[in-house]
Amino acid sequence: MSSYLTRRTLLAVIATLALGLVPATAQDARRGYVPAARDAVRAVAAEHGMVVAQEKISAQVGADILRRGGNAVDAAVATGFAMAVTYPRAGNIGGGGFMVIHSADRNEDITIDYRETAPAATTPQIFLGPDGKPDVTKSRDSALGIGVPGTVAGLALALEKYGSGRFTLTQLLEPAIALARDGFVVSDDLADTLPSWHRRLARWPSSAKIFSRPDGTPLVQGDRLVQADLAATLSAVAAQGPRGFYEGPVAEQLAKAVTDAGGIMTPADLKTYQAVIRAPVRGTYRGYDIVSMPLPSSGGVVLVETLNILEGFQLADLKQGSAASLHLLIEAMKRAYADRARYLGDPAFVKAPIETLTAKDYAAKLRAGISTDRATPSKELVSAATTPREGSNTTHFSVVDGRGNAVSNTYTLNFSYGVGLVADGTGVLLNNELDDFTAAVGASNAYGLVGFEANLPGPGKRPLSSMSPTIVLRDGKPVLVTGSPGGSRIISTVLQVIVNVLDYRMDVAAAVATPRLHHQWLPDEVRVESGFPSDVLGELKAMGHVIVEPMGQTSANSILVTSSGPLGAADPRTRGAEASGQ
Ligand code: GLY
Repeated sequence: MSSYLTRRTLLAVIATLALGLVPATAQDARRGYVPAARDAVRAVAAEHGMVVAQEKISAQVGADILRRGGNAVDAAVATGFAMAVTYPRAGNIGGGGFMVIHSADRNEDITIDYRETAPAATTPQIFLGPDGKPDVTKSRDSALGIGVPGTVAGLALALEKYGSGRFTLTQLLEPAIALARDGFVVSDDLADTLPSWHRRLARWPSSAKIFSRPDGTPLVQGDRLVQADLAATLSAVAAQGPRGFYEGPVAEQLAKAVTDAGGIMTPADLKTYQAVIRAPVRGTYRGYDIVSMPLPSSGGVVLVETLNILEGFQLADLKQGSAASLHLLIEAMKRAYADRARYLGDPAFVKAPIETLTAKDYAAKLRAGISTDRATPSKELVSAATTPREGSNTTHFSVVDGRGNAVSNTYTLNFSYGVGLVADGTGVLLNNELDDFTAAVGASNAYGLVGFEANLPGPGKRPLSSMSPTIVLRDGKPVLVTGSPGGSRIISTVLQVIVNVLDYRMDVAAAVATPRLHHQWLPDEVRVESGFPSDVLGELKAMGHVIVEPMGQTSANSILVTSSGPLGAADPRTRGAEASGQ
């Protein structure tokens, strides 16, 4: 096996060189770039298809579907349902997300919006306290923050419209049902998270009994996690399709659990939930096509706007990771995130100037305001106030098959383990996604993202997201599939992976592993991961940037498609991610 992989890796490297995508080591030698230790990671090569996901068992579930003749969408659906069992902190059927699909079969790029919606009884003031000020405990820690889950509808819609036709929903649910029913061994990565989140889960007996040992302490590595109720819920979906979740006993139990906990979701909210097929946001960058997520995710718009600004600079002439290069990335991020705050929200409720924001001439105007040696204070861009906060979790997986199809999928419960409430009798862990609304004009969400009228809560409305599943194409064929968790940091993470691959021609594993930074307009600070040389940070400070560590978790599980097959890059930042090829 290992000699096979070595041979395959060599072939892939040769193909990569032929494409002009030079591995980091050769590139580094030319540019004098000294990679951080984590750049020692290597991409995993495969011949036909690849699934790169944050959890091993589910990545292998998807790769097995590819092996059995499924396409990338079939594999993504199986992986998505399996992660709802094996990766409970973000894999889900009680949350929502976004999928970007390049369908070679249908010569089409499309997205599936399965973002949660606010219940019909939601008011714009729902997350304010008696003093009229935002009360973050309502949106983050109470059942009022629970949005109507979209994942079951979204994955089913993706399969119906873009699956190969070789697998039914029932067949693709089988691995997830077996994993929930029979249980699986708690991994080191899952065990890493439970001590800190267990108190949140244990607020509800229905959650505590699933994630605790008999003595009430959190499950530990090596324990078996069995989720019999979740198996039954997944079986209801297998038997009846999405109606098994959105109508009947499961829907009744979900709504009851939410209202018992003080929320406002009703069976009618579930019954009327719709996943939506949307045209992607498109852009171009140095001859490549960028295909990403449109509203209600801000991801695609901010990504394209940022890339458009950067396209006017010859980044490749500046050393990767140098202060000069990073300064331009920061300045571009700052401007695009300021527009995010001002203009973006659910397109069903808000008319956002998307054409302007993604236009090359608009980017040129913004670029003209960038000094190459001085940080522009955020308050000079647009004025507002915010308080920074941290929190996350979301998860991203990338899939390609041997037929040229690609799927980029990011989904989430918002915080790790969402609000922490498992709806009794269903096994479904529920989200706190409605914290992504702006509780009041000028207020910020858990990621410190400021918002205005466009993103106030409202009945049936989808909160603005940063999730940015993205596919980069060249001549109509996928080159790079990427995305990340990380709240506000998602978009800047995807941006840096793209720049590292397209501008700096880095090997995809190095492009993913190399340290990242983040600026989101407000607060006016650059969040940095460890690993940047102190002299680079010193130069950035001298330009006027406020540097703050740490940056917070992201994980860009990505695939580079070469002429000899896909190269998978599982992000090394956390344990458990896996590139599983066939
Ligand atoms: N909940 C994080 C996001 O959707 O951006």
